[in-house]
Amino acid sequence: MSFDLRAWSAERLERIEQALSVWVPADTPAQLGEAMRYAVLDGGKRLRPLLVLAAAEAVDGHAEAALRAGCAVELIHAYSLVHDDMPCMDNDVLRRGKPTVHVAFGEATALLAGDALQALAFELLAPAGAGIPDRTQAALCRLLAQAAGHAGMAGGQAIDLAAVGKSLTEAELRHMHRLKTGALLQASVMMGAACGEPSARAREGLETYGRALGLAFQVVDDILDVTADSATLGKTAGKDAAQDKPTYVSLLGLERARSYACELLEQARGALGTTGLADTRALLALAEMVVHRDN
Ligand code: IPE
Ligand code: IPE
Ligand code: MG
Ligand code: MG
Ligand code: MG
Repeated sequence: MSFDLRAWSAERLERIEQALSVWVPADTPAQLGEAMRYAVLDGGKRLRPLLVLAAAEAVDGHAEAALRAGCAVELIHAYSLVHDDMPCMDNDVLRRGKPTVHVAFGEATALLAGDALQALAFELLAPAGAGIPDRTQAALCRLLAQAAGHAGMAGGQAIDLAAVGKSLTEAELRHMHRLKTGALLQASVMMGAACGEPSARAREGLETYGRALGLAFQVVDDILDVTADSATLGKTAGKDAAQDKPTYVSLLGLERARSYACELLEQARGALGTTGLADTRALLALAEMVVHRDN
């Protein structure tokens, strides 16, 4: 039985775009809101919110909590991209097919837009009067904070910067990728799960699925940096080699990096099979998309 990911996504993407457009403010001091909206709206695959919604649906979770969680994780992701592109980090001028935020608004505004997006993410997770149980709100905040902070994305980015010009072992590279990118993707899955009350078995399966998918995502990002062009990616291709970053391609070569991504997809598929959940087709289709995407 085939699953139509495009049709499944279309309806959810509409909800996500609409919510982001309402929740990311325009009315702020100076140009801050404009920079925030520029960073978040009109672009991006929205993979993280789609993962949140797919996991929440699989566990029959609270719909409003899931929409908020999906937008919150996308805001953290958008903030991480704004800072990742700044001259003090990857020094990139193109993102999502547009000039990067610091190019369009200046470095100080880019820094503040990232800061403000991070704060807004947590504000979305703890609304007054939305009927989301306090324990769900707390669980969502905890999962997102852990994935974004020193033991997740920010920690991974620190390793990434420290690793420029070095060759890492496979274990070190895996650790870096798990933190800088995998943690937020795995958290997307677990935040979706936290919108419901899955069994321990389902939680464990989703956790393993999210870990495999999160790593696969960055392996494929490393591959696309070498194989795709800037127009398709919406960001500058070939940057990793130019900046002497250790990647799965520099470590394993293209062919073995590709087969590792496929191996991780099989791990993700296997993990979904252990959850005992009735319908994990969207989660599976998203994992396939992560590995077989071209941007
Ligand atoms: C790019 O993420 C940055 C990494 C974490 C490798 P995405 O490929 O999900 O970027 P968008 O959101 O679609 O622009
Ligand atoms: C970025 O990794 C991961 C983040 C936490 C933003 P990359 O530096 O490889 O992402 P791109 O290739 O610029 O999107
Ligand atoms: Mg980077
Ligand atoms: Mg980068
Ligand atoms: Mg990259």
